[in-house]
Amino acid sequence: MKYQTNLLKDFPNNFLWGASTSAFQVEGAAKEDGKGITVADLRSQKSKYLDTSISVDHYHHLVEDIKLMADLGLKSYRFSISWARIFPHGNDDKPNKKGVAFYNRLINLLIENKIEPIVTIFHFDLPQALVEQYNGWTNRKCVDDYYNYAKTLFELYGDRVNYWLTINEQSLLANVPTMNGIKASNPENLRQLSEQSNYYMFLAQAKVYRLCHQLLPKAKIGPAVSYMTTLPYDHTSLDILKSKQLEDMIGFIDMDVALRGELPSYYQRYLRDNQITLNVELQDQEDFIKGRADFLGLNWYSTSIFKLNDQANPKMLKGIISGVEKVRDNRIMNSEWDFSCDPQGLRYALQRVNDRFPNIPIIITECGWPEKEELINGEVNDVNRIKYLNNHIYQLREAIKDGVNVISFNPWSFLDLISVNDGMDKRYGLVYVDRDNYDKKELKRYPKSSYYFYQKVINTNANNINKMI
Ligand code: BG6
Repeated sequence: MKYQTNLLKDFPNNFLWGASTSAFQVEGAAKEDGKGITVADLRSQKSKYLDTSISVDHYHHLVEDIKLMADLGLKSYRFSISWARIFPHGNDDKPNKKGVAFYNRLINLLIENKIEPIVTIFHFDLPQALVEQYNGWTNRKCVDDYYNYAKTLFELYGDRVNYWLTINEQSLLANVPTMNGIKASNPENLRQLSEQSNYYMFLAQAKVYRLCHQLLPKAKIGPAVSYMTTLPYDHTSLDILKSKQLEDMIGFIDMDVALRGELPSYYQRYLRDNQITLNVELQDQEDFIKGRADFLGLNWYSTSIFKLNDQANPKMLKGIISGVEKVRDNRIMNSEWDFSCDPQGLRYALQRVNDRFPNIPIIITECGWPEKEELINGEVNDVNRIKYLNNHIYQLREAIKDGVNVISFNPWSFLDLISVNDGMDKRYGLVYVDRDNYDKKELKRYPKSSYYFYQKVINTNANNINKMI
């Protein structure tokens, strides 16, 4: 008898080719139709760039934007629901009818166009009222409020939504607590508060995984995790250990808790070494054991190479792992914002995730290339983005051939949107939106060259991609 492998040779026919956005980065209408103010709204008001009051006005361009998605041939669309559009204060007695209606329209339009909605429940935009009421995620009450919000979404939209994402990039929220609006009267207390909030976010998700399985047995649910490929610059054991620590503490931690149902030992050690004690309750353990994710959403953009340097202390890693600096690999394409284009890094990352959680279904929830771009005669010829997409999709197929169970690819972003830190200067979209940081212009949409390239990818199930370019 001959051994026959059952590994796939290519993208499966039902592969979900999608695209991705998040509410505050595209919707605008920040104070319209009863929506409450969010932490993201306040944060953007303080930035030197534009704020979220208009963003790219997706709220008022819904029909047009979904027509563009349908013409592109999207099979899935990953977007987030704004908590404060449903519950303006985060925990109101009743949902806000106009907010509910907006997402009903959005989801119905997607379904009419045979586009699978992939819904993020919480993407960086905590209702500000929850910060004012009890300092947001630092308080156990936030677990209940998130649970109730998620339950409401399951009841409202669960008949049409099969894929749910609980929290976007929790590890970033834990490492940059201001993203969650957390206030500390004493700055020294910030790490303690931030880790407590991290714990409550883990707990809230565990409860919501379980709830989703109870209420919507056919639906699938998982976290949207930030995971970059982390490589040591030097190849001493010391460097490799440090690189592994970074990978664990920034990337794997959210996956480990979601799939194994407990705080991993490397994190417990970190808490102990930093004298951080968490408030836990007996019942929590059962919630963690019974609430597990069905798949992993991965936000993967690039590879980072880290070099040991006692003096270095990049802001995002502060308090977690200091003493490393990021080093650029000049042999590959790098964007202005220190993103490298390293497609093999994606294949390697997928293999590592699959090694740790064999055969876990993976949805690439974000992957994209930022550029400063200008409209020239109504066109944007974004050749670097095409190269990025081509080569990452090529390597994605290699990962599938390796046996990694990737079921969907949702590049960031469907259309130009407000970047978290760089406003409209840093564009990721397949569709150009004609506005800049200072002038909202007419907000007209123009498909870029990458839109037409990706359209062909979808139409041919990536048969047009047969080499790296
Ligand atoms: C991810 C976020 O971290 O990266 C997105 O989920 C974000 O919301 C994206 O926009 C790119 O980062 P930035 O800072 O360029 O917007």
